[in-house]
Amino acid sequence: MKKLILFALIGMFALTLSACGERDTRIHVGANIYTYGDNFMNGVVRPELERYAEERDIRLDIVDSENDQGKLNDQVDTFIDRGVDVLAINLVDPAAARSIIEKAKAADIPLILFNKEATEAGVMDIYDKVWYVGTDSAEAGIIQGEMMVADWLANNDWDLNGDGVLQYVLLKGEPGHPDAEARTLEAVKAFTDAGIQVEQLALQASNTWNTGEANDTVAAWLTSAFADRIELIISNNDGMAFGAIQAMKSANVDLPVYGVDALAQAISHIADGEMNGTVLNDGVNQARATLDLAINAAEGNSVTAGSPWIIRQDGTKAVRVPYVPVTKDNYQDFQ
Ligand code: GAL
Ligand code: CA
Repeated sequence: MKKLILFALIGMFALTLSACGERDTRIHVGANIYTYGDNFMNGVVRPELERYAEERDIRLDIVDSENDQGKLNDQVDTFIDRGVDVLAINLVDPAAARSIIEKAKAADIPLILFNKEATEAGVMDIYDKVWYVGTDSAEAGIIQGEMMVADWLANNDWDLNGDGVLQYVLLKGEPGHPDAEARTLEAVKAFTDAGIQVEQLALQASNTWNTGEANDTVAAWLTSAFADRIELIISNNDGMAFGAIQAMKSANVDLPVYGVDALAQAISHIADGEMNGTVLNDGVNQARATLDLAINAAEGNSVTAGSPWIIRQDGTKAVRVPYVPVTKDNYQDFQ
C-alpha cells in the first residue's frame, strides 16, 4: 500500500513537471545552422548560441539544415506553426533570403539572419523586422592578404623558382557566398596592390568549406603537372586549410598556408609552425549579437537596446563583428 502511494506521488510529480514544461513562458527562439558539418558554425557559433541562451534564460530550438535550403524552408514553417517568438536563421543559400523573409513577414515574427548575408539587392527592405548579424566580408580577406604580403616580402626563399612572381593555389568557400567571394578577391588583391605579380595555378571551391574536400583537392594538386610550382596555399577558411595541411603531410611537402576563423586547431597549427596565419572570425560575439537582437526584437524593443552592438546605417541593417589578425607573433593571445 505504501508502495502504491509512493508510485502515485511520483506519477503526480512527473505530471506537474511536464505541465510546467508546457507552460514555458520564456522567449522562444527558432534557430538553425546551415550544416552541422561546418567546423566554424558547428564548433564555435552553435555552442555559444546554446550557452548564451541559457545565460539569457530563453528557450532556444536549434536544428541542422543539412546544407539543404528546401529543408530550411520547411523548418521555418514548422517553427512558425509552433509559435516561436522570433527566428534566428543561417541561410543555406545566400540568394534565397526572400522566401524566408516573406514567411516571417506573413507571420509577423521578427527575423535575425546570421553568418550568411542575403545577396539579393534590396531584399532586407521588404520587411521592417529583419536584421543581419555577421562580419564585413572583405575585412577578413584584406587582413589575410596583408599578413601574406608581409611574410612573402620577409621570406625571399618562398619564391621557389625565383621569378619574382607568386605562384599560388586557392581553396575557396561556397561560390556566391559574400565571405567566399570577398575573401578570394581581397587576399589576391593585397599582393597586386603591393606591386607583387601573381599567377594562379588552381582554384577549387567547396560549398560547405570542408576539410575532407580540401584534403582531396590539395592531394590532387600535389601530384599534378604544376605541383612543383606551388609557392603558397591561400584558404578562405581554417577548415579547408586543415585539409591542405593533411595533404601536405602525406605528400611530405611543406608550403605556407593561411586560413580564416582562428579555430582552436588553427592556433595549435600556428604554434607548431604548420600554419602561417589565420584571421579571428569572432563567432562567439556573432552568436551573442544574434540572440541579443532576437530577444530585443521579440520584446518589441529597439534591437540593439542595452547591448554593445551597432546597426550599420547603410541600408544593410547589419551588425558587423570585427575580424582580428592571428600570426606566430600573437597567437598566444588566442589560445
Ligand atoms: C564563414 C566562415 C566559414 C564558414 C562560413 C559558413 O564566415 O569563415 O568557415 O563557416 O562562414 O557560412
Ligand atoms: Ca615564383
